[in-house]
Amino acid sequence: MKNLVFNSEQDSVKISFLEKTGEISTLIPITNKNFVILDKRVLDLHSSFIDELKAKNCSFFVIDAPEKQKNINTCLEIINMMQKLGFNRSDAVIGIGGGAVTDLAGFVASSYMRGIAYFQIPTSLLAQVDASIGGKTGVNHGNIKNFIGSFYNPKEVFICSEFLNSLDDQEFLNGFSEVLKHCLITSKASLMNLQELADEIQNREPNILLKLIEESIDIKAQIVTEDFKEKGERKFLNFGHTFAHGIESVNSETPILHGHAVLIGMLMALDYSKEQGFLSKDSHEVAKEILKGFKYDFTNIKLDANGIFDAMRSDKKNTLGINLVLLKEIGQPFIFEEPSNENLKNFIIKYINDFEE
Ligand SMILES: NC(=O)c1ccc[n+]([C@@H]2O[C@H](COP(=O)([O-])OP(=O)(O)OC[C@H]3O[C@@H](n4cnc5c(N)ncnc54)[C@H](O)[C@@H]3O)[C@@H](O)[C@H]2O)c1
Repeated sequence: MKNLVFNSEQDSVKISFLEKTGEISTLIPITNKNFVILDKRVLDLHSSFIDELKAKNCSFFVIDAPEKQKNINTCLEIINMMQKLGFNRSDAVIGIGGGAVTDLAGFVASSYMRGIAYFQIPTSLLAQVDASIGGKTGVNHGNIKNFIGSFYNPKEVFICSEFLNSLDDQEFLNGFSEVLKHCLITSKASLMNLQELADEIQNREPNILLKLIEESIDIKAQIVTEDFKEKGERKFLNFGHTFAHGIESVNSETPILHGHAVLIGMLMALDYSKEQGFLSKDSHEVAKEILKGFKYDFTNIKLDANGIFDAMRSDKKNTLGINLVLLKEIGQPFIFEEPSNENLKNFIIKYINDFEE
């Protein structure tokens, strides 16, 4: 059991790490009524766990197509249903699913009657190591991701490794990029540890995974506690993401897995850190070898250098130049404001030309 305190909000978020889904229902605090917003795949694949919840005075709203339904219309549908069922501030919302469902559920909880208790049960690795921490909730609006949203912490997060057994390999690796990122921006030793544990990780050994998830959450929690509203250090969590957003943007017609774009983005950021004379040759080699040791499948990812560069240039986070998180050393990130667009563009063109899947 962990207790994290986000200073800026004075909220205390309890995180429980569990091996079996059966343990969760006994730990969910008793509220008058619970409104469960639930991913359909999780309902299908973990039905006995959901059956246990049914005994807990729960109403259910099932989400079939998480990212598609992550919008304000779904929120209104849920809010209408909760209102009809007489939900009030002594009740709670429980979000169960990947990050799309937990973002949506968190947003409903934050806005219903100006906020009711929220319990989060993230079921994908990405949702466990990333979306579960930091209090960002939200929904997409038109084509813009997470355009409507709030900062709202859950009361409690239940991280259970049993959910991860039903993720396919690439969905698992999708979330694992965040674990790799957290190590790259904090310490060489933790990154090397991932290399040593590579077999256990790919075999999804529950105790190993829970330990790594806990460490990863701790890293994100520490950064977020210092900088809840993303004014300084929290930006380091964007390591690899500026390149990744460019890659996602050129693949927008057939969306790709975010973590896969982030992995390529991190490889690019490592190369650029070395090319600019910040990261040593040795550290660069070590980091790239570790990242490449995990079997990411990039076959369906389109890489178009000009499109990637154009999307990076129009990123709303830019100031005078394009802002990148680079590394001085593994574990030492910093913000680099690229003064020369031409330099960066040439780098991207060369990187994409030489890219091997
Ligand atoms: N709030 C934050 O800080 C934050 C951080 C990162 C990402 N996000 C959001 O999270 C979303 C991405 O998260 P995601 O990758 O979990 O996507 P997702 O929620 O779309 O889930 C991906 C797929 O995995 C399935 N799934 C979920 N749990 C499963 C399980 N245990 N077994 C088998 N299949 C399972 C889902 O049904 C879905 O098909 C995006 O909407 C993103 O904006 C939020």
